[in-house]
Amino acid sequence: VSGRGGAAGLEASVRPGSSTPSARVAMIGAGQLARMTHQAAIDYGIELHVLAGSPSDPAVTAGAGYTLGRADDVVLLRRLAAGADVLTLDHELVPLDLLRTVASEGGVVRPRAEALALGCDKMFARTAVSELGALSIQVPAFAAVQHTSDVVEFADRHGWPVVLKARSGGYDGRGVVIVEDRGAAERVLAGVDPGGAPAWVVEEHLEIAAEFAVLMARNPSGHTAAYPPIGTLQVEGICRELTIPADLPEDLVRRGESWARSIFEGFDVTGVGAVEYFVTRDGRLLLNEFALRPHNSGHITIEACATSQFHQHLRAVLDWPLGTTGLLRPAATVNLIADSTHEFAGRLPHALGVPDVHVHLYRKAPRPGRKVGHVTALADSVPEALERARAAAERFVR
Ligand SMILES: Nc1ncnc2c1ncn2[C@@H]1O[C@H](COP(=O)(O)OP(=O)(O)OP(=O)(O)O)[C@@H](O)[C@H]1O
Ligand SMILES: [Mg+2]
Repeated sequence: VSGRGGAAGLEASVRPGSSTPSARVAMIGAGQLARMTHQAAIDYGIELHVLAGSPSDPAVTAGAGYTLGRADDVVLLRRLAAGADVLTLDHELVPLDLLRTVASEGGVVRPRAEALALGCDKMFARTAVSELGALSIQVPAFAAVQHTSDVVEFADRHGWPVVLKARSGGYDGRGVVIVEDRGAAERVLAGVDPGGAPAWVVEEHLEIAAEFAVLMARNPSGHTAAYPPIGTLQVEGICRELTIPADLPEDLVRRGESWARSIFEGFDVTGVGAVEYFVTRDGRLLLNEFALRPHNSGHITIEACATSQFHQHLRAVLDWPLGTTGLLRPAATVNLIADSTHEFAGRLPHALGVPDVHVHLYRKAPRPGRKVGHVTALADSVPEALERARAAAERFVR
């Protein structure tokens, strides 16, 4: 099934064929990232076509062209790539071997599967980064886990608690478990097939003083553009708030940026991606993980920077000139996170009573813990912006 504007079968009547798009981009996934990419695609006269799981997906209700199907259907991926100048992604739950197949047949897939592996598999990412020895990129102490004994051995060296992380498929802290002792580790690992590949990584538990993301764009011609550092505040594993510029020592930010650039160059990453960093209480900078696509932290760039991450992603995957990333004004973003009771959409007018805030609602069903929107405010200082964004976000729930 495919269609435009949610109306399958109406293509002929709503596509007169007289207007040629500036480019055709296909995107695997139709969530809020695809939805906001579609907004940017409209600005540029780009035709965006998404692979959606449901006609109620956020990018489909926003009017992007769509095909209904699954990301593990190689026939669909092939068709999407054939109908577009470039095939890109809004999530990493895609079998990379299928993307390799599509690319080997001449489909243009950006970023390429070899780079995407960094964002799909935490063990691969940790190992790959540690092996870039010359750059001395620091990551938390880690080890692959096959059996509980691997966790206990690791804890003998690094102390309890430790952190168990699902190698792949985790997000919003799902798949991240703090483990206090052997018994707890056993319970977490109970679901693992001992014959299969290790599904978990164990990490030292860090005293984290701050977290930030370096958002970076790179196009196939090799041009890169880094955004100012974005501070991220996680509560129970879910990102709640963003600030730009992050309040961090300049040398630390510069190091994070140079590590990110080296990795984007070393792995030939194209498109926009985020590198998440930890700053520990004892002042260490550690690389946490990658998201090689537009990222939640980058939502703040829509209003705060000269080029939004979504415009930038399109420019990057199409090998167009990258936009400047400069900060227009200090800003803060507060994510709207659903619980079982709140109806966000109906409260929008109340929230808009707070002057000078930018609200984005994704039209996602409000399941507990789900990000259903965000609010950004710009001001003369980050604390002032944060206060205003919080006030508006608060009005969605009270
Ligand atoms: N080793 C650690 N020590 C202490 N806290 C940690 C550690 N690893 C992760 N965390 C906390 O858990 C959060 C989520 O971890 P991580 O980013 O690795 O997982 P994720 O679920 O893949 O996240 P995302 O939602 O960004 O995809 C981190 O932002 C951090 O606040
Ligand atoms: Mg993370």
